[in-house]
Amino acid sequence: MSPEDPSSGGKNGTLELPKTATGFDQLAHAIRARKPRYDGKILAEPRWDSELVLQDVRHPTVKLQEFGYDTAELNRGYGVIDDTAMTGPTQLLTPEGVTRLKDVCDKLEAYAGSSEFIVTRRVRSADLMSPFINNMIRDRAFLLACSRMVGVPLIPHPLRTPTVQINYFEGRRTGDREIAKWHRDGMDYVFTIQLNDAGEYEGGRFTYFKGRTDQFDGVTEDDPRIEEARCDEFGAALFIHGSNIFHAVTPVTAGRRVTFVLSLFCPYFAKQDSNTFWHLAGDDGILATIPNWMRLKWPARSPAMDFSLRAGSPVITWSDLQ
Ligand SMILES: [Fe+2]
Repeated sequence: MSPEDPSSGGKNGTLELPKTATGFDQLAHAIRARKPRYDGKILAEPRWDSELVLQDVRHPTVKLQEFGYDTAELNRGYGVIDDTAMTGPTQLLTPEGVTRLKDVCDKLEAYAGSSEFIVTRRVRSADLMSPFINNMIRDRAFLLACSRMVGVPLIPHPLRTPTVQINYFEGRRTGDREIAKWHRDGMDYVFTIQLNDAGEYEGGRFTYFKGRTDQFDGVTEDDPRIEEARCDEFGAALFIHGSNIFHAVTPVTAGRRVTFVLSLFCPYFAKQDSNTFWHLAGDDGILATIPNWMRLKWPARSPAMDFSLRAGSPVITWSDLQ
């Protein structure tokens, strides 16, 4: 069986799903990967409105220390330890907001490209294709709700290509199933919004490893640290500290499952951003990654980086979170 065949169990042979390539294989992905073509057309879509954000979101939270991380190795500053591992599932948008977002994401499927790196079929840089999404992720009320889920001020990520990714999983009973391989994200602050109720599809379970990322090698399917985050409801929003948590989506075997995945950025911890060039290049290719990478790393070298990295975003400060 091919290592790319999701039903093969991947290279380590101990997990139901394959693991994302690393090392030389990751380099090979970076050389092969191409950004899907986008014709620049803006599709007809509903309007964004701040009223679509739910206020006073309530949510259960798990800390990174419960995954085995030591407080001393986490970002800290401004009187805060950046230790939120997972928050949710909860609802960030009103039902009308989720319905409108779903409508936008359904239309953008026309631009989805396939990938063998992490998620089988997805649209990247969706905020550059949709005024609705662009306005939503730069809306102060929306950013505040997201920031409060994590406990740090968050703004859209300066790396534009991975900022908004829409994942499409269509039920297939053949070996060619649509999945997200076991991976950790390049991004630190990752929010997923479910755009289908669990009754609309089979499979498609969001699974994660409740341990450190450096403990993941050799983990088997029956490891008690492999858990499932129940995001069954239409609009369910889940935050994960993506770079610190191995996670995957099991094959969708029937129906359709679409998720909106947003990566945000804490300008106060800009220099600690976890992205690596080769992780990004594995998805987008080397040429497309270079300008993105400069957009993040060049401003972060300068004392004036705050102004450049925050461009186009409302200001969210620590005092907003109190
Ligand atoms: Fe991910």
